[in-house]
Amino acid sequence: MLTPTTVSIQVKPLCPLFGTCGGCQYQDLPYEEELARKETILKDLIVKELSLPEDIFEAITPSPESYYYRNRLDLTLRKRNNGERQMGFMLPGTQRLQEVTNCSIARKEINDFLVVLKEEAVRKLPEDYKVANLVVRVGDEGKVFWGGIGRRSLRMEEKDYFWTIVHGRKIFYALDTFFQANLSILEKIVSRIESLIQWEKDTVFLDLYSGVGLFGIALADRAKEVVMIEECRDSVTLAQFNVNYHQLENIKMLVGKVETYLPAILKELDGKPCVALIDPPRGGLASSAIETLGAAKSLESLFYLSCSPESLARDLKHLAKVGWKVRKIMPFDFFPRTRHLEVLIWLARS
Ligand SMILES: C[S@@+](CC[C@H](N)C(=O)[O-])C[C@H]1O[C@@H](n2cnc3c(N)ncnc32)[C@H](O)[C@@H]1O
Repeated sequence: MLTPTTVSIQVKPLCPLFGTCGGCQYQDLPYEEELARKETILKDLIVKELSLPEDIFEAITPSPESYYYRNRLDLTLRKRNNGERQMGFMLPGTQRLQEVTNCSIARKEINDFLVVLKEEAVRKLPEDYKVANLVVRVGDEGKVFWGGIGRRSLRMEEKDYFWTIVHGRKIFYALDTFFQANLSILEKIVSRIESLIQWEKDTVFLDLYSGVGLFGIALADRAKEVVMIEECRDSVTLAQFNVNYHQLENIKMLVGKVETYLPAILKELDGKPCVALIDPPRGGLASSAIETLGAAKSLESLFYLSCSPESLARDLKHLAKVGWKVRKIMPFDFFPRTRHLEVLIWLARS
């Protein structure tokens, strides 16, 4: 998480709740200024902290859409003691709920649906329930679905799966799977990864923490073989659906923890040129996974995609100790108007 230092009000925030709901930090700045501040904060955290040369830091890639980009909102529905129903965001660090009827960073289709969502959710909320956590999502086709009340309410039928097109391929995802929140920037990051390395005829691409298979599927044609490791079964179900949909025969999928499977996979691939993308959750990598990555001599390049610069800095220090050197730092603004930032790191053997 990146915390802005000084904030001088220069533009009128689009959202009347800016400063109250806690979701956005930068609506009062021109977008260029927000990007410059994010770069400075990231440089302090990674470049200075790790004593890296400035010239490996690439300019931040802006989001093609700086408002109305989020394809997912998480909302709380609450029944108060006086019977009133509220739907909105819990204010950080409090028990207070901010009623929300519009969110300037959520996709327009989601905003258009919020009134209906509240009506439907209130109707569905059982009498004895006081609180429900709602998830509402949309894909490129513009259909909105929601869930969060009742068992299996996040399950979707295959015909309803959301999708977005990346690198010419439809990538399907669902209400119950992780998927990147900003679809507009995905093509840029996939293309950047693709362009940085020399893909040989026998390159094996390891998509670690693969979710529904976004990166492995988008880049499947570049590799001889793709190996995905993902622990969430619902995501693996979607990854399998994606593989079947595209009739890809060079993808192997492992269900479980990266730190459990990685040692055996790397041993099996010993001698073959391998490239790995690691895209862990906010907490970063398990120490055992870093040790394994250090020992894997057939791994030629490593990409680390992180949504948490703090855990990234910690892991990069550890990766340096086991023989990995940072070659490029590439910030991507996946979350305009908020303090969050996605960073792609390219590492090579030192
Ligand atoms: C940040 S998401 C990235 C998903 C995917 N790369 C994408 O961009 O859509 C992290 C993923 O790692 C999975 N995960 C978390 N811990 C894991 C672990 N120890 N081993 C394997 N997968 C894990 C989560 O279920 C989640 O799907």
